[in-house]
Amino acid sequence: MSKFILFSTLIILTSCSSRQNAATGSSDTTGRKWWKEAVVYQLYPRSFKDSDGDGIGDLKGIISKLDYISSLGVDVVWLNPIYSSPNDDNGYDISDYRNIMKDFGTMADFDTLLLEMHKRKIRLVMDLVVNHSSDEHLWFQQSRSSRTSPYRNYYHWWNGERGVPTPRWSFFDINSDAWKYDSLTKAYYLHYFSRKQPDLNWENPQLRREVYDIMKFWLDKGIDGFRMDAFQFVAKDTSWPVFPKGYESNIIKYYGMGPHLHEYLQEMNREVISKYDVMTVAEGAGSTLKDAMDLVDPARHELNMAYHFEGMDVGNQPNYSLLDFKKVYSKWDSAMAEKGWVSIFLGNHDQPRMVSHWGDDSPAFRELSSKMLTTFVLTMRGTPYCYYGDELGMSNIRFDRIGDYRDIATINRFKHLVGEGGDTTAFLEEQKRTSRDNGRTPFQWDNAPNAGFTTGTPWIRVHPDYPAVNAAAQEKDPGSVLNYFRKMVRLRKDNQVLVYGKYTLLDKYNPDVYAYTREWDGRRLLVLLNFKGTTASVKTDIDLGKAKILLGNYPAPSGDGNLRPYEAVIYEL
Ligand code: GLC
Repeated sequence: MSKFILFSTLIILTSCSSRQNAATGSSDTTGRKWWKEAVVYQLYPRSFKDSDGDGIGDLKGIISKLDYISSLGVDVVWLNPIYSSPNDDNGYDISDYRNIMKDFGTMADFDTLLLEMHKRKIRLVMDLVVNHSSDEHLWFQQSRSSRTSPYRNYYHWWNGERGVPTPRWSFFDINSDAWKYDSLTKAYYLHYFSRKQPDLNWENPQLRREVYDIMKFWLDKGIDGFRMDAFQFVAKDTSWPVFPKGYESNIIKYYGMGPHLHEYLQEMNREVISKYDVMTVAEGAGSTLKDAMDLVDPARHELNMAYHFEGMDVGNQPNYSLLDFKKVYSKWDSAMAEKGWVSIFLGNHDQPRMVSHWGDDSPAFRELSSKMLTTFVLTMRGTPYCYYGDELGMSNIRFDRIGDYRDIATINRFKHLVGEGGDTTAFLEEQKRTSRDNGRTPFQWDNAPNAGFTTGTPWIRVHPDYPAVNAAAQEKDPGSVLNYFRKMVRLRKDNQVLVYGKYTLLDKYNPDVYAYTREWDGRRLLVLLNFKGTTASVKTDIDLGKAKILLGNYPAPSGDGNLRPYEAVIYEL
């Protein structure tokens, strides 16, 4: 079972209205929203900047780099979890939702971070991880202590006298078994993820109230939204029906969009979200377009932005088909053309690096293909999410040894294979292409030791290409990936046609080039993207004679519709 099925499924964002948030506060009734116009920068705190030499990125480190973030032109930061956690899954196992992980700093650091971000007109979206907690959370400690604990029903338990529970597959468990027997009360608890990530019981209204209080705690501090982790899994059919054999290869169908999910979201919206002007993005959008629309149709008052993984699924094949890629993005655009909204992303903390995944990270094409992919993300209709380091063209580290990996997904899968005598060599080879750790290596600031990330020993190895690929070097080079990224963000911010404009796919069957127009308010832009490392031509029936080139990733962009390897050009028609 590939981990992609998981990370090809889980997120969504929501808006509300009664309070203007500190950063730039704007909301209206015409369909225009600040979260549609925003460019999101996703930041993995563990790997961004270490301020105290312990080898782990921290909040003070982020604060010290806010001017850099601001210089990118982005206006929202999505921060992966920073709450107290024993770090079984890098912070996605939370032991105290109202506290900061010691590795990352203190609540005072957090308050400074938020203040300093808002001063720079950058909004903050936090991860909300409430499909499960850590087994070290007080709720779970209480819950497991006795069958009569008031916290017992905060989690899902199956009493031992009922026999072995109905099988449920687990993403991170070494045996892929989502039920763990706990001898203390002779019962099994459910964990879709690791054994240290017991699933919370959303069918319990008391648990839901706790979550809403946690959300209010952070929103009252002034944060600007939530990215809701694994949220499509929270509602469960607690009659625990037997799923057909092989169901785990279609896990979203069986785990996603459980019986009362929409009720819970509407309740959450009523109780919390509608009282603030915030963005909420839930990971995963179900398994059909209808599932997604049910989550983001504004009339339903649930969430405001779908984060689907269908594009990721296409790219998970070693030689993905651009035709399939175009089909997916065109389908989602047309599904949300009248109402609803999507996120556009080609990387995140659960994926390999964008350029290695979708482009070509060899020296000849790393820069060009990074710029081309950035052009795609920032010219589609939907809110763009840019993952830290992609603005430099950081690439997969491709570890050779299991000992270099830090991700529980890779490590436990390896142990599983060892246990069953599987092919660990082939697995390690595959991880070079797919592992989540490829996307989690430290940000490459400069050519000082450890790329200027830490003065200590980094928690995960720094990519060895940092002497050449780093922010300081790219700052000085007007043609760098970094400076192209800034130009591209500026172009989007200055041209709302790129946010709201109608999308039309051109030259649909061209296997090499992705071509589309964006039209709005009397303006029409044409985007041509060569996704291949060879020259290509495009048939659009558009006379480019009078077209004006707005941006291209070659020093002198092609003006005739013929594209050089990985060339990207944006025209105004
Ligand atoms: C989400 C997160 C991932 C995490 C998992 C369990 O998919 O993005 O990083 O491992 O949930 O919380």
